[in-house]
Amino acid sequence: MTLNTSEQAAITSGSDFWHTEGVESAGIPAVTVTDGPHGVRLQAGEDLLAGVPATCFPPAVASASTWDPELLRRMGEALGDECRAQDVAVLLGPGVNLKRSPLGGRNFEYFSEDPLLSGYLATEWVRGLQSKGVGASLKHFAVNSQETDRMRVSADVDERTLREMYLRAFHKVVTRAQPWTVMCAYNKINGVYASEHRWLLTDVLRGEWGFEGLVVSDWGAVVDRVKSVAAGLDLTMPGPDAAGDQQLINAITSAELDPALLATSAERVQQMIRKAGERPAGTYDADAHHALAREIAGRAIVLLKNDGDLLPLSGEQSIAVLGEFARIPRYQGGGSSQITPTRLDDALTAITATGADVRFAAGYPLEGEDEALLAEAVAVAREQDVAIVFAGTVHETEGADRESIDLPAAQLALIERVAAVNPNTIVVLSNGAVLATKPWDERVLALVEGWLLGQAGGSAIADVLFGRVNPSGRLAETIPVKLADHPSFLDFPGEHGHVRYGEGLHVGYRGFDARGQEVAYPFGFGLSYTTFGYGAARATASAEGVEVRVPVTNTGARDGREVVQVYLSRPGSKVQRAPRELKAFASVPIGVGETTEVTLTVEREDLAYWDVRLGKWIVEDGEYVIEVGASSRDIRATVTVHVAGDPARVPLTAESSVGEWLADPRGAEVLGSVFGESGQQPAPEMLMMLGSLPLSRMAMFPGMPIRPEDLGKLVEAAN
Ligand code: BGC
Repeated sequence: MTLNTSEQAAITSGSDFWHTEGVESAGIPAVTVTDGPHGVRLQAGEDLLAGVPATCFPPAVASASTWDPELLRRMGEALGDECRAQDVAVLLGPGVNLKRSPLGGRNFEYFSEDPLLSGYLATEWVRGLQSKGVGASLKHFAVNSQETDRMRVSADVDERTLREMYLRAFHKVVTRAQPWTVMCAYNKINGVYASEHRWLLTDVLRGEWGFEGLVVSDWGAVVDRVKSVAAGLDLTMPGPDAAGDQQLINAITSAELDPALLATSAERVQQMIRKAGERPAGTYDADAHHALAREIAGRAIVLLKNDGDLLPLSGEQSIAVLGEFARIPRYQGGGSSQITPTRLDDALTAITATGADVRFAAGYPLEGEDEALLAEAVAVAREQDVAIVFAGTVHETEGADRESIDLPAAQLALIERVAAVNPNTIVVLSNGAVLATKPWDERVLALVEGWLLGQAGGSAIADVLFGRVNPSGRLAETIPVKLADHPSFLDFPGEHGHVRYGEGLHVGYRGFDARGQEVAYPFGFGLSYTTFGYGAARATASAEGVEVRVPVTNTGARDGREVVQVYLSRPGSKVQRAPRELKAFASVPIGVGETTEVTLTVEREDLAYWDVRLGKWIVEDGEYVIEVGASSRDIRATVTVHVAGDPARVPLTAESSVGEWLADPRGAEVLGSVFGESGQQPAPEMLMMLGSLPLSRMAMFPGMPIRPEDLGKLVEAAN
């Protein structure tokens, strides 16, 4: 049944915070959409943030550290089951914005500083969720990498950086998994609100990428309904928005808005509702989901340091468990993604359950300092064989960027004082984004990065500490020595409504590598209780991309899992490039003494750079260096491969420089014959000097063999 204009206007805004508008006369029901992304946060009562209990899976900061798309797919499937059980049609996630700065307040909700890692992980999450007949909402489209002034700030970013870095993960997910919905961001991009950005929401998303679903606003991101619908935004949330509905009707009456645009948006909303209607109701097994949350959390933990193989613990040593976070876990961030967990494991209980001799002391208060707590913890540490200090961030929430990457002073004091009395000190961190670890990590033997691990994190930490799980997590973000080293440092968070993405393509490890800068722990890094050896890599180019094969052997004494990483560089490229960029990865279980031949594929689209002159993706012709490694700074095998490029001729004009003419075979021929005929072949030094001169300008110089009236003919001959 076709809806009339006022019904179309009504259905393109929500009926309340979490429901679409139904149209009873047309038999269109309202459906529920809710957050997301690491659990189902169905609002329980009046309090916006209080949800019906649901499994709190590890937030993206942790799930990304697994580097395992397969695990993300399983998480997506489990979330789909929970959505079905709660009658949720669309779960608002995943968030694939880049962690541009360690200060980003929502870094815990985002996967990585690398778009390819984010894109591949999110793709499987979406596939898993949608396989259950529940829709995803890929967010926040786009360039939403800070909380400061988040509803208004303009992210000012050049087109190549936008395409290659900030849109890339979205592109991967849209083209591979077709999420039911994409959520536009709050911020502006180069001065235009994402919610009004026709180039972004229509030309790129639908035109270039073939997106078939619906664009929903972030909650409160729409400033002007008419402009938004004209740009390609379909559903405004939350609702109701009677005034906006009326503006749409008026705009159609006054011919300001093409009625076909509103009709299309209304049709997309109905399509989503129809799809949602197909999903059967369901139930889920809370214990099984808790177990899955524990498995993912165990795989997400990154072992950063383990001198003298202090870990895993044998169970025989007496243990001091120190720090309030061992008892009161930090397991998720604040804001719209905050889940009310079905249950909550703490590390102290899980460590005690091993039967080891455990003594606990809180060590610090959650706010401020307390000398008595500190002294008590130091006394306990002195008496036990091993001291485990639990430290981390106290607050991390949507809506506010972080102020620093340092641990609170009381926790730093605890680590320093405990390490001074107990040589077997281990630090376990809980944090939603990177923390500075220098210089204190030099005083402890072991360092375990536990991120925010969701409701089963406490058990997962014990699994790793006691070796029930052999750690295989890898850093999805670089840990800098200090904040000021970070590529984003000078341009974050901007001022007066603008933030300049001054580091351009050099986000995260790309920037550290380009400047040869020391880091505390590099992107892709993580230790295991076993060791892996790499054989020689082979690479074969084809029309689809480059296939890389490398044998990897477990050379240690425990079964384990290696995350094999493929980085690519293009020495001598005609355009600026990062020294190395992640292009493929695989998380592979390998038993003791076994060798596995790992095959990884670099997609041809990931070899391309965005050529701003031609307005298209170009694969350069030539040699590409493939580096296979255990981290971005631990390259174990290198191989070079020739890739046939795309045609990329930029037409010559009168404004092209002499150098550009000579670099072009046809241009060189045309210019050469002009000079040849005049008998004035310029000397090489002269040519160097003339190289940057546009041809039209040269033609104005007296005595040159080219005159202004010849330019048209030359340009024609050269193209
Ligand atoms: C957040 C979104 C979230 C929405 C609904 C917004 O504040 O930016 O990520 O999905 O609220 O809660």
